[in-house]
Amino acid sequence: MDFSLNDEQRMIQESVRKFAREKILPYARDWDRQGFFPRELLREMGALGYLGVPVPEEYGGAGLDYISEAIVFEEIGYADSSVRTTLSVQMSLVELTILAWGTEEQKQAYLPKLCSGEWIGCFGLTEPNAGSDAGNVQTTAKRDGDEWVLNGQKVWISNGTWSELAIIFAQTQPGSKYKGMVAFLVETDAPGFTSRKMTGKLGLRASDTGEIFLDNVRVPDSARLGQVGEGFKIAMSALDNGRYGVASGCVGIIQHALDASVKYAQERIAFDKPIASFQLIQDMLAQMKVDADAARLLCYQAGWVKNQGQRSTIPVSTAKYYATEACKRAADMAIQIHGGYGYSDEYVPERLWRDGRVASLYEGTSQIQKLILGRYLTGIPAFE
Ligand code: CAA
Repeated sequence: MDFSLNDEQRMIQESVRKFAREKILPYARDWDRQGFFPRELLREMGALGYLGVPVPEEYGGAGLDYISEAIVFEEIGYADSSVRTTLSVQMSLVELTILAWGTEEQKQAYLPKLCSGEWIGCFGLTEPNAGSDAGNVQTTAKRDGDEWVLNGQKVWISNGTWSELAIIFAQTQPGSKYKGMVAFLVETDAPGFTSRKMTGKLGLRASDTGEIFLDNVRVPDSARLGQVGEGFKIAMSALDNGRYGVASGCVGIIQHALDASVKYAQERIAFDKPIASFQLIQDMLAQMKVDADAARLLCYQAGWVKNQGQRSTIPVSTAKYYATEACKRAADMAIQIHGGYGYSDEYVPERLWRDGRVASLYEGTSQIQKLILGRYLTGIPAFE
């Protein structure tokens, strides 16, 4: 594995860093306070290729590799995790899932609109009784001639009220767990499809999170993504991409926590010296640096596996577990270094701490990542 970025990766890093530091970072605190960011931002990101980084150009994407995708997530995550979450769901969970499992018609119909930011997509897996136990989806799909009728409820859906398109996972044979699961591409203006914004979140306040209600929603069989019975595999393979986005976004949080802490420690005087000169402060900075490097390298390792076209479940779960736990440590240390100011939203650490906290919950908790790794290490057949 070559650790150096190639010219293409360096160019996207430079361009997305400039964009994120100029067009996102200065506004992130206000968006957090007001509870949303302007949707127009996504169109701007689409025009620059940030919404479809690894999607082939023929479908409106940028046609770049997976390391480039990680770089985009890191830089956007550095500036604002609410925007990064919206982007991760759009690109990793929706676009790449359509790319992997969709028919040619489905790819042509949806990918250009999603890559440009004209449409927003969401991933409708989680339900009140199906979080970690994703195979327990209770939304039903009943065949009726050439159509399917969907009934059920989804919760904690990022982009849930903003989306024009939802990937909905449903059960065709209640009680059969993952064996009867199926996925559909549902346009959200379909009669019977409604959504409601979820509020009161600890962090990611500027990102849209919603509940979705499906009340006799009719979709044609041509809206089916993959085969009946493939729904669970589609969901799990999508999460191999989604978790990569979460992990890479957390690298951005760790790096931001470190940069802000170094700057503050050099400026803040206590006991007649900058606090950066105290070894107990340096100890925390050193831990954050090691975590930033380790998390980034684990993401690049997973990206390298993806670039080989190989299944990335194990390196992705490794990166997600490490980066999301490290991000909690880093944000907490940043607050510690900033002292009382770290507890105020006048400074960035409290937002990093609140926004980073969800990363070891959504798209598979840290416990789920360890379960995946534990099964792999002990050889219990679970994934073959
Ligand atoms: N790729 C392809 N296929 C996969 C796969 C993958 N990554 N993982 C599993 N499969 C296949 C298996 O090969 C198996 O198929 P066969 O029967 O043909 O062999 C089948 O799926 C069942 O696999 P398991 O036996 O491993 O299933 P399990 O019931 O034991 O569950 C689990 C495994 C790891 C616990 C899984 O349920 C899981 O990851 N749960 C967490 C769900 C999650 O991350 N939810 C977050 C939702 S998204 C979100 O947060 C909302 C948002 O908007 C951000």
